[in-house]
Amino acid sequence: TSHTFRGSSFAGKKIVITAGPTVELIDPVRYISNFSTGKMGLSLAEAYYLQGADVTLIAGPLQVSTSFQGIKVVDVRSAAEMEAACLAHFASADLLIMAAAVADYRPAVQAVEKIKKSEATTSVVLEKTIDILAALGAVKKPHQILVGFALETENEEVNALAKMKSKNTDFIVLNSLKDAGAGFGVDTNQVTVFDASGEKKLIPLQSKEVVASEIIDFVSRGML
Ligand code: CTP
Ligand code: CA
Repeated sequence: TSHTFRGSSFAGKKIVITAGPTVELIDPVRYISNFSTGKMGLSLAEAYYLQGADVTLIAGPLQVSTSFQGIKVVDVRSAAEMEAACLAHFASADLLIMAAAVADYRPAVQAVEKIKKSEATTSVVLEKTIDILAALGAVKKPHQILVGFALETENEEVNALAKMKSKNTDFIVLNSLKDAGAGFGVDTNQVTVFDASGEKKLIPLQSKEVVASEIIDFVSRGML
């Protein structure tokens, strides 16, 4: 609301956050998606906004919404739409956090008409979506900070560090699905953030709002 007091720590900084799932159409009425609600990304956007940043939230279909009218929300649906929005907004951004749960695959063809149940069995051929974070890492300028998330269930640290390297990010936030109370659809999370030099910060289980401000403290040290 217009009466919210905002700090000025990030005044003049342009921050882009992605949040939520993407939705990949099979036909006009059916889709492939995932259980992301957008809560973690929204918490990050709100925390930066409350510290004075110019915040753009690129959002797949979310289960949550912000009451801060000053946050610019760009609604997208598919991974392809999210990629276009990210590339457009990243060009002028100081920092981008890719918290969205982007679909890895989409139907190779999207039926124009609703598919009829004519066959006894059927299948959908899937093709890979574009890796948005890797595309951003490839165009990142030296002054820009890029942060990825990694959702892992095994070899967590090794896999997360490999993702930071292959996608050319400055930080990676490891989200471990093994922990109770962490991940999709819950109000709490527990993460470990790594920087490119291997330094790490463990953020124990607590509300996504507090986790968001702890992530921000670690990834934007150099901006303040
Ligand atoms: N990501 C992306 N575009 C995709 C897939 C993922 O930008 N098409 C981003 C996610 O938003 C996240 C990071 O890449 O910030 C890692 O996502 P994750 O699902 O953990 O890893 P993937 O690279 O997709 O590999 P895999 O799912 O096979 O572990
Ligand atoms: Ca993935």
